Amino acid sequence: MKKAAARAAMEWVQDNSVVGVGSGSTANFFIDELAKRKDFIEGAVASSEPTATRLRDAGIQVLELNETGDLSVYVDGADEVNDRLQLIKGGGGALTREKIVAAASTTFVCIADASKQVTVLGEFPLPIEVIPMARSYVGRQIVKLGGDPDLRDGFTTDNGNLILDVYNLDITNPLELERQFNQIAGVVCCGIFAQRPADILLLGQKDGSVSKVEL
Ligand code: A5P
Repeated sequence: MKKAAARAAMEWVQDNSVVGVGSGSTANFFIDELAKRKDFIEGAVASSEPTATRLRDAGIQVLELNETGDLSVYVDGADEVNDRLQLIKGGGGALTREKIVAAASTTFVCIADASKQVTVLGEFPLPIEVIPMARSYVGRQIVKLGGDPDLRDGFTTDNGNLILDVYNLDITNPLELERQFNQIAGVVCCGIFAQRPADILLLGQKDGSVSKVEL
């Protein structure tokens, strides 16, 4: 299902362009597909160190977002997606760079298997990247917002920070909750992607087909 969605996303990859590439197992399938077109694209901007390594191993040039300017397309997976194409991301801990590359891209194509589609976001624990010295403070603010934060053990992000996975949140208003988390001092990034949702969702189905949802 992930592979089928990844393959379908190639329709949005233009020749001679720089492609934004996400992180995780579905994005890895996309890298495999991109590798087949490596001589026709200029390169890629990676949303994590593991993605950068995988791109280079596939023979794809990795470029810095500061050099490329805005990108035409960003392709990435998600942990959950609702019918407004708002997402929870960060299961792999790469949410901050993912949010940056998504923000800098004209079209965000989300690729996922059908199990990621939900009515209301929040069954998947919400990842929040936090500056290490603010860990306890941020945890207390999260409790005030109704969540149960849990420090991701032994994990450091590509940016040298920590991840709090937040359970039991009521995410019926993703836009507002994203705004509230963004305002806590010490929060680097919250895994709700509602201010910048996906533009296109490609969902791999059990029968091998891919359904498309466009905003
Ligand atoms: C990485 O930090 C995440 O945002 C991933 O995009 C997300 O966890 C989806 O991962 P899979 O494609 O492995 O399900």
